[in-house]
Amino acid sequence: MSDQKPTILVTRKLPEAVEQRILEHFNAKLNADDHPYTTDEMLDLVQGADAIYACHTDKLSADVIRRLPASVRAIANISVGVDHVDLDAAKSRSIVVTNTPGVLADATAELTMLLILAAARRAGEGERLVRSGNWNMWSPSFMLGTQVTGKRLGVIGMGGVGQVVATRARGFDMQIHYYNRTRLSPDLEHGAEYHDSYENLLPHCDFLSLHCPATPETHHLLNAERIALLPDGAIVVNAARGSVIDESALMVALKSGKLAAAGLDVFDNEPKIDPAFRELDNVFLMPHVGSATRETRNAMGFMVIDNLNAIFADQEPPNRVL
Ligand code: DGY
Repeated sequence: MSDQKPTILVTRKLPEAVEQRILEHFNAKLNADDHPYTTDEMLDLVQGADAIYACHTDKLSADVIRRLPASVRAIANISVGVDHVDLDAAKSRSIVVTNTPGVLADATAELTMLLILAAARRAGEGERLVRSGNWNMWSPSFMLGTQVTGKRLGVIGMGGVGQVVATRARGFDMQIHYYNRTRLSPDLEHGAEYHDSYENLLPHCDFLSLHCPATPETHHLLNAERIALLPDGAIVVNAARGSVIDESALMVALKSGKLAAAGLDVFDNEPKIDPAFRELDNVFLMPHVGSATRETRNAMGFMVIDNLNAIFADQEPPNRVL
């Protein structure tokens, strides 16, 4: 009976409830010790598999996809971003690619608010000081930060996450400005002010939060020229993908004081981030945990199973990217 189940390769360790459900539905090759597979290891393990249950740290380049066995029908990702998958290569082999949109908006918006608050109120510096045992004074001018309440928040990318961030930020009386490829309908804007280009948006942003996918078009969209358009003392946060910011330009602006602070959950070369970030007190750093809540990772994990079940039943998967 179990031999009739489709075989899948699961590249990383998943929450227990998700792995249990996977085992009910599939012959699964699980990654029990959660070590990242090398390409050769992955290509070896995937032999005989009908699909790969992948995540954003799996670099599924054109070369890797070309070398996948013919049995692989799908790459089902536990992520909304699919920039780790060469979509052209998958398309040329008719491999279905799915993702997990929607369910991670709340968790990622929470993390974004954490970045905004922590960067503005110098939470990293404060925590390091108290933890070090060197906190030995207080004065009315001690560790002053930037007030969040009532400020202007610019959102680039007003999809699911961007819209929830706007809702949460309104709880801090923030005024929302945004850029999106397509303007939202008025019922979704909730009074947010639309700008039709990055250049028109940036001068209105005391805070700027990025929520666009990583594509060739969004690569380094926040560069030195555009940072110069932000008000002096602005704060930039990023919980999308590292590649949307030119990190060198960001560091120059953080050092010069052009930007008061930044909050980053994602980096160009994670987890081996540019060590210069560690030297900057005014950047609050998190290790790509936007959607990392138990509730959300379970929801994402189950969504991948639903996508795979649909594919193996020759039905349209609910979250097909390709
Ligand atoms: C996503 O869903 O894209 C998150 O970054 C986790 O991979």
